Amino acid sequence: MDDFRQCFPEVEVLLTAEQIQARVAELGAQIARDYSADSPPLLVGVLKGSLVFLADLMRAIPLPVQFDFVAISSYGTETEHTGQVRLLKDLDTKIEGRHVLVVEDILDTGLTLSYLLDLLRTRQPASLRVCTLLRKPSRNKVFIPVDYCGFDIPNQFVVGYGLDYAERYRNLPFIGVLRALALEKK
Ligand code: IMP
Repeated sequence: MDDFRQCFPEVEVLLTAEQIQARVAELGAQIARDYSADSPPLLVGVLKGSLVFLADLMRAIPLPVQFDFVAISSYGTETEHTGQVRLLKDLDTKIEGRHVLVVEDILDTGLTLSYLLDLLRTRQPASLRVCTLLRKPSRNKVFIPVDYCGFDIPNQFVVGYGLDYAERYRNLPFIGVLRALALEKK
């Protein structure tokens, strides 16, 4: 952890690895209580950001879960969403009649999840729920019903634990704010 902090001095820690791991364990336990071993959820991760969270979360759910991924591109700059969304990779799994739990890294405007949920709903899953690690409440443009949320965070651009800026920082074990970006906005 100290090595990462030294290597990435431009990142100011918002959530430590310990805080994240503790919350992921709570979310996993909550999800395990809400589903049963007879009908466990299919976890649907949204690439690439949710990869790290999904990997930890599924190991915190003591049920026979399966997982799959979708990839979605959203147009805009590194930090601003234009509202245009496109499916780059579809599921390999049929979801009709199955319990689906979408696992997202961060809910910002909500446009990505809104698109994905509309798409998955047309395939008639038995249930469709959302688990997001982070949520920026002040930024939501569309209402997304979130069933499991790790942390509500302020309206700042964050990196680490799967989240990137120009494809960097995804491997940080903590979540932080880029000091340079914070300065640019002032
Ligand atoms: P939304 O469609 O605006 O909710 O944005 C969702 C996607 O935008 C996330 O899955 C992330 O890939 C990206 N995103 C939004 N906010 C951040 C951030 O603060 N850091 C890194 N990526 C972000």
